Amino acid sequence: MKRLQLAPSILTADFGRISDEVASVADHVDWFHLDVMDGHYVPNLTFGPSTVEAVRRAVDHPLNVHLMITDPGRFAEMFATAGATRICFHPETVPDPARVIEQIRSLGVGPGLAVHPDVELEPLRGLLTEVDVVLMMTVRPGLGGQRFIPEVLPKIERAREMLQEIGSDADIEVDGGVNLETVDRTVAAGAQIVVAGSAIFDGIDPPAAAARLRSRLDELGAQ
Ligand code: DX5
Ligand code: ZN
Repeated sequence: MKRLQLAPSILTADFGRISDEVASVADHVDWFHLDVMDGHYVPNLTFGPSTVEAVRRAVDHPLNVHLMITDPGRFAEMFATAGATRICFHPETVPDPARVIEQIRSLGVGPGLAVHPDVELEPLRGLLTEVDVVLMMTVRPGLGGQRFIPEVLPKIERAREMLQEIGSDADIEVDGGVNLETVDRTVAAGAQIVVAGSAIFDGIDPPAAAARLRSRLDELGAQ
């Protein structure tokens, strides 16, 4: 079984001190998850490549850039240059997802598919052999701090089955509303990487919150 990994989303972090914020939790986490929003695919705007560069300078961790934007192929190279290790995009935003996956791979970055709660998994089956990660969303994209959608859990189990059926070693990353209350069910359904935004950057004590989640993942991994 793969080691369970923790990826803080910086969406609810203090952007006035983003370098300090990510550095403060670095000892307890495995990735950073960077949510890019363009105000078209989702009704929110966040940041661009310069923020990815700032995080890249502050920590050595791999960075998963989650593009909640229309036309991800147009911006992939900018995020690759900024330091992305992986780039996930929503397949329904492009006419030919296979081509965008190829384009991301050609940039030396790991491609990933981000699966909106309302998007069916089966039609994506043919793409799963080409990606390094399947990002299963357990909230509607656009905001941090939302309630976990448990109805997505069977879909995460199905994703794990599909990856096994096709012999893919891609990670399953679960994104949205993950905290100490929901992480067990998320891992049981098949999550190997869990994203946590507001559960970590809660404005109280991010390092302690990250450490608690990290130790819960260690306990679950030891079971
Ligand atoms: C939502 C983003 C998620 C979100 C996670 O559109 O893709 O990564 O920031 O934040 P929490 O953990 O607070 O739901
Ligand atoms: Zn995300």
